[in-house]
Amino acid sequence: MERETWTNKFAFILASVGSAIGLGNIWLFSWRVGAYGGASFLIPYILFVFGIAAVGLMGEWAFGRSQRKGAIGAFENVFKSKNEKYKGFGAALGLIPVAAIYSIYIFYTIVIGWLIKYFFLAISGSFSTMDIPSYFGSFPGSSASISWHGAAIIINLVIVYFGVSKGIEKANKIIMPLFFGMLILLLFRSVTLDGAFEGFKYIFMPDWSKITMSETWVMALGQAFFTLSLGGATMLVYGSYAKDETSIPSAALQTVTFNFLASLLAAFVIIPAVFAFNLDPNAGPGLLFITIPNIVNQMPGGLLFGSVFFLSVVFAAVSSSISMLEPAVEGFMDKTRISRTKTVLLLSVLAFVIGLPLDLNMSLFGKWVDITTVYVLPFGALVSAFVFFWIYGASKAREEINKGDGFKFGKWFEFYSKYIFVPVAVLVLVLNIAFGGIG
Ligand code: TRP
Repeated sequence: MERETWTNKFAFILASVGSAIGLGNIWLFSWRVGAYGGASFLIPYILFVFGIAAVGLMGEWAFGRSQRKGAIGAFENVFKSKNEKYKGFGAALGLIPVAAIYSIYIFYTIVIGWLIKYFFLAISGSFSTMDIPSYFGSFPGSSASISWHGAAIIINLVIVYFGVSKGIEKANKIIMPLFFGMLILLLFRSVTLDGAFEGFKYIFMPDWSKITMSETWVMALGQAFFTLSLGGATMLVYGSYAKDETSIPSAALQTVTFNFLASLLAAFVIIPAVFAFNLDPNAGPGLLFITIPNIVNQMPGGLLFGSVFFLSVVFAAVSSSISMLEPAVEGFMDKTRISRTKTVLLLSVLAFVIGLPLDLNMSLFGKWVDITTVYVLPFGALVSAFVFFWIYGASKAREEINKGDGFKFGKWFEFYSKYIFVPVAVLVLVLNIAFGGIG
C-alpha cells in the first residue's frame, strides 16, 4: 500500500502545531510563567524554543521524511545501511521512542478524561455547589474517572482510525481554528476583569532575582523540548508523511511561532484572571482543576468562561494525544502488515487496559508520569537526534532539511546540530534526572 501523505504543507504544519499545542502550553507553561517570574521565564524560553528545540523539530521531521518511515523503520534503515548485521539493533532502538510516547499517551488520555469531566461540570454550573479542592483530591484516582478515560480513548481511536489525511489532518483542521477562536474569546473576558492589569505586569516585567536562578533556565529548556513534542517518534512520523517539496525550515518557523502564540494566549487568559481574584499563580497541578474553577465561581460570565475554557483545553489535548498514538500505530502496521483498523483497535484497548490501574491509584499514576517523562521521553529525543545527526550524518541531515522549496541552512548548521544540539539533548536528559523532571 502506498504511504499516505498530508494533503499539503499547510495540513502538515497544522497537524504539527496540533501536536505541539497541548497541556504543555496551557497547564505547564502558565504554571512555569507563574513560578519563575513571568518575563524572566519567557526570555530563556524564547531562546531555547527558537534556537535549540527547533533544531530537534527539524531533525525529527527530516529523519522521518528521509526514510519514509516512523522511528522503528527509520532507525532500522540507518543502521542497516551501515551494516546488515545492525538492522535488528536499529529497529529495537527505534522502538524506545515509540514506546516512550505511547506510554505518555496512556497517562495523557487519563488527564483528557478528567478534562472532559470538568467540561461537563463547567457547563452544568456544578463548580458553584461543589467543594472544589476536595473534588480534585478524590475524583482522579477513583473508579468514577474510568468512563471519562474511556471516552478520551474512543475519541482518539476514531480520529486515528481514519488515518493521516482523513483522520489526523481533518481533525486538526477543525480543532485548531476553534481552539484559537475560543482562546481569543477567553482573552477578552480575562483582560477586562478588574485587577487584570497586575497579571499583565507580572508577565511582562522580569523578576531579576528569578532570571539569575539556574532553575529558571533549566525549566525553560525542558519546557522547550516538551512543547515541540520532541521525543523521537511523534514529529518523526509526522515528517514521514510530508512531501519532499515542503520546506522544513519554514514549516518549523511557523510551527514554533504558532505554538508560542498559543502559550502566550493561554498565559494571558489564565494569569490576569488569577491576579484579578488574588489567587496564587504558582498553584502547580491544581492550576487547571482548582484555581480555574475558583475563578469561574467568582467571575461575571463564569459559566461561559469555564465551559469554553475546558473545551479549549480538551481540544488542545486531543490534537496532541492523537500524535502520541500515531507513532505506535504506524510502527505496528509497518512491522506486522496488519490493517490500520485492527491496529488502532488493539493499541486503543491496550492503552486503556494499561491505564486502568493508573485510573485507580494516583501514586502509581505519578510514578508512571515521572518514569515516562523524566527518563524515557528525553532519552528518545536524544537517541533520535544522535542517530540522525551523527550516524545518518550531519551533512546528509542538512541536505534533507534543505530539500524543500525555501530557506536553506548553510554549512554551519552541520556543526550546530552535531556539536550544540545533540549535547544539549544530553543535557536535557541529565537535568531531567537531576531535577526529577523539567518538562
Ligand atoms: N507538545 C505537547 C504538549 O505540550 C505534548 C506532546 C504531544 C508530546 N506529543 C508529544 C510530548 C510527543 C512529547 C512527545 O502538551
